[in-house]
Amino acid sequence: MENVSGTIRERRTVRRFSDMPVEQEVIVSLLKEAAGLYEAEGTPLWRCIYAGTPESRDELAEGMMAKVKGSNLAKLLPAKMTDLLKKQIINTPAHLIFIAEAGETERQQDINYAAVCSIMQGVQLLGWEQGLGMLWYTDPMMHSELFYQKIGLREKERFAGILEIGYFDKIPKARKRTPAERNWTTIGEGGSLPADSARPTPQSVLKLLNEAVWAPNDGMREPWRFIYVTGSEAVRQLGSAENAVLPLLLVVAKEEADPHKQQEDYAAVCCLIQNFQLLAKSGPWQVRRHIPEWVYERERCKALGLRPLERIVAVLELGGDSSRSESGSLPPAVRIELNTFVKTGPL
Ligand SMILES: Cc1cc2nc3c(=O)[nH]c(=O)nc-3n(C[C@H](O)[C@H](O)[C@H](O)COP(=O)(O)O)c2cc1C
Repeated sequence: MENVSGTIRERRTVRRFSDMPVEQEVIVSLLKEAAGLYEAEGTPLWRCIYAGTPESRDELAEGMMAKVKGSNLAKLLPAKMTDLLKKQIINTPAHLIFIAEAGETERQQDINYAAVCSIMQGVQLLGWEQGLGMLWYTDPMMHSELFYQKIGLREKERFAGILEIGYFDKIPKARKRTPAERNWTTIGEGGSLPADSARPTPQSVLKLLNEAVWAPNDGMREPWRFIYVTGSEAVRQLGSAENAVLPLLLVVAKEEADPHKQQEDYAAVCCLIQNFQLLAKSGPWQVRRHIPEWVYERERCKALGLRPLERIVAVLELGGDSSRSESGSLPPAVRIELNTFVKTGPL
């Protein structure tokens, strides 16, 4: 990415596209590049479906509209309105549907979901640099049996959202973000390490976070907060770091009772983490991203001050030398189905 900081800050969700077509090759190469940008421990499994031809967009629209059509709302809406909604879907130049594949454990499911959401953010950023605008769409009104059937959603798979993609004429206005300092807590002592530009300090971490918060997030809920763990004793207690000298940043999704919003919030936090990792890459210190087993232990999370419905989305190990970063590992494989949906009969 050419201008990481500027792109993260300037990217906007675009909801109105121009008629200019988007080439399939552009989308496929964006996806591959975005998968290559993703760095974390573990091997994520994910897949996506591309709808770019008129026929596939038509089929997708049918799936996305099934719930609206079957609802009481549709009886009140003039037919013209539902036609308009359908037209909007069909006229969007490209749709990419993202799915985290099934995992045996909750942790493996989270690894898959975190990867797919981070890659979606990568696609949005890389696309923005090429003049492509996107909307991450998760509206509950599109969730229906027919839709799930069309995308072939299997048990334990998680549908992460659709990226609606196109070129655009007008950049929407930005909406302000809350400074990261307001969502920041520290655990542990600073320790007696000498000041060193190659080592993270709370100030340098906050500086990156204040750029990373320009992540997309549904309803502008800004559903994140940060726990900075410093000092060897506190870090050792978490038992996650090989090197107990390095500070940790726990990135937390705030409390949300609604399951649909909970998923969206987890996704938004993944976007923020992806931003943070990309920003840190050009800096003097490294970031290693984990989802350790202990984040699923309620008592340990409680001891860190987490509220009952809060969740640690990732533990970031800050610092260390570049030879230990995940950059040498293989990027997650890209599995893309082009313009094909599962054929379904009438329900
Ligand atoms: C997981 C997720 C789901 C979203 N779902 C929707 C959606 O269904 N409809 C919508 O209009 N915007 C959706 N958005 C986009 C947000 O509304 C948008 O990111 C927010 O308004 C901030 O604007 P910005 O992306 O231009 O910074 C979603 C964003 C994320 C990360």
